[in-house]
Amino acid sequence: MSKYRVGILGATGTVGQRFIQLLEKHPQFIITAVAASDRSQGKTYGEACTWRLIGEMPNAVRSLPVQPPTPPLDCDLVFSSLPGDIARETEGSFAKAGYPVISNSSAFRMDEDVPLLIPEVNHQHLDLLARQRQRYPSGGFIVTNPNCSTIMLALALAPLHATFGISAVVATTLQALSGAGYPGVASLDIIDNVLPHIGGEEEKMETETTRILGRFVNDRIEPAPMAVSAQCHRVNVADGHMAAVRVNFTRKPELGELREALSSFRSLPQELGLHSAPDVPIIVRDEMDRPQPKLDRDAGDGMTITVGKLREDTVLDYRFVVLSHNTIRGAAGAAILNAEMLIALKHL
Ligand SMILES: NC(=O)c1ccc[n+]([C@@H]2O[C@H](COP(=O)([O-])OP(=O)(O)OC[C@H]3O[C@@H](n4cnc5c(N)ncnc54)[C@H](OP(=O)(O)O)[C@@H]3O)[C@@H](O)[C@H]2O)c1
Repeated sequence: MSKYRVGILGATGTVGQRFIQLLEKHPQFIITAVAASDRSQGKTYGEACTWRLIGEMPNAVRSLPVQPPTPPLDCDLVFSSLPGDIARETEGSFAKAGYPVISNSSAFRMDEDVPLLIPEVNHQHLDLLARQRQRYPSGGFIVTNPNCSTIMLALALAPLHATFGISAVVATTLQALSGAGYPGVASLDIIDNVLPHIGGEEEKMETETTRILGRFVNDRIEPAPMAVSAQCHRVNVADGHMAAVRVNFTRKPELGELREALSSFRSLPQELGLHSAPDVPIIVRDEMDRPQPKLDRDAGDGMTITVGKLREDTVLDYRFVVLSHNTIRGAAGAAILNAEMLIALKHL
């Protein structure tokens, strides 16, 4: 089978480097184009990029020229990890020029005709792509993945909402430094400290969660009828976002039922055996001191989320702690799984 040729926008950044790493031996994709800012353009990828992941920069990308993020690029589709402020214009121009755009950025996530996709949760939302044919007659389209904290929250809530119905969620995050990109937060601001502000993050978690868990009805997404409240904090951890979550149900389940719904959850990506789909999307741990970023972020090659501390709450019905790898399940891995789902469902 010939591989899809992919371009990566923002290829030198924190998420861009994850794309390069995760795509190195991918059976369906080959990287043929990379783009970044004018700081990097005109250099080879090897010259422009300071590689910050464990292991070596893959040889296949070293000599690729870094190009401006403007069409045309020599590829069949683009993965985008551009900063939010430039993503709207840039990603829109690629879709307009006929490219499928699989985006990490927040620019299009809440647009009515754009799927905000977690393949295990809402692959039905891909039916929105039919509406994008009016916006992009060239055949291009945009599919987005959620914010890095929203993904783990929505994935954990999905089997619970489907089985028991959720009426309210309160989430308090502890988010890793790599979530802020590079160089991110100044070291003197975060050593010996916790920052109780991540711009726009709380609003994203609140609005994106109900959209992801919503239903596709009459050509649009009807948000899930639940109240979501989020408070977000930056902590001194390299990788791995965590959230303490409290949930109210429309029908309160037994603790065992809750545990079973989470740990037995499998969905279409698992049935189809998609390359980046973990065998087990949600691991439930019973130790009192798990999950922890250092110990649990790499579960399922970074694509499995870990839930622990599952117990009855004294205010809402239940509480738990959830953790995931923010640059893999929360960003590059999520986008690649989205692309694999698009292929499986013949949108690519
Ligand atoms: N980090 C995470 O965990 C995470 C998770 C989910 C979503 N996201 C989203 O992914 C996107 C990228 O985040 P990141 O953490 O990878 O950021 P980053 O480390 O700051 O990387 C930004 C990338 O965009 C390029 N870039 C910056 N300004 C540009 C411009 N004006 N024109 C063209 N390219 C430009 C940079 O190129 P140069 O190297 O040439 O400057 C670099 O490749 C953001 O939208 C972010 O919200 C991040």
